[in-house]
Amino acid sequence: MKIIAGNWKMNGSRSALKEMVSGLQSLETNHTIILCVPYTMLGLESGRINIGAQDVSAHTHGAYTGEVSAQMIADTGAKYVIVGHSERRGYHNETHNTVRNKASAALSNGLIPIICVGETMEEKQAGKTMAVIESGVRESIPSDVNTPIIIAYEPRWAIGAGLTPTDAEIADAHALIAKTLSEMGLSGTPILYGASVKGSNAAEIMSIPNVDGVLVGGASLKCDDFIPIITSVK
Ligand code: PGA
Repeated sequence: MKIIAGNWKMNGSRSALKEMVSGLQSLETNHTIILCVPYTMLGLESGRINIGAQDVSAHTHGAYTGEVSAQMIADTGAKYVIVGHSERRGYHNETHNTVRNKASAALSNGLIPIICVGETMEEKQAGKTMAVIESGVRESIPSDVNTPIIIAYEPRWAIGAGLTPTDAEIADAHALIAKTLSEMGLSGTPILYGASVKGSNAAEIMSIPNVDGVLVGGASLKCDDFIPIITSVK
């Protein structure tokens, strides 16, 4: 059983979510399906889809205009929240410290954080991929985790670019993450791969050791693209 998570980013609408919910309703699958949608789509009927948000405030409440707390997200019935996505780290200067605080806020409110780590093209070219991944895992995860979390390895240079690392590169990254998690007392934590996943490469990617599922951006927006990803994996 795999975890197939979609990240709608700043796309979609309430009616598009309704369409996706009905499109997936009759699908026979044992996989866990998650869709992380914009805040305005939280709380809608979601059928078999588990709903998540894409970001969360590190604060509990108060004068933080525009922010949404973990408690508010949980209050909509959502179960998951992405933290530390490449676009949050890149466009909003989120550090490991920020990401860790956001993950803590999620955990304190019963949400499962999907904590993203991954290297930029600059870091890859400088030969720093493994070091960046390991420090991302060690520094973005709160120290007192005793409820489920999910890690997503997302090579930042490959997101939305139609590029993917080689199978061997994905295998090495996931093996390192699994080893690091085990050293942190978190073995068994699911590790997703994300960046340019589509129907044509999902099965191969998910057959790589330590790849427990995928985090899908662009190809999660439409049933015609998302369903083949789910059905391609047995
Ligand atoms: P992509 O995005 O599948 O469009 O590359 C992945 C992500 O940002 O999670």
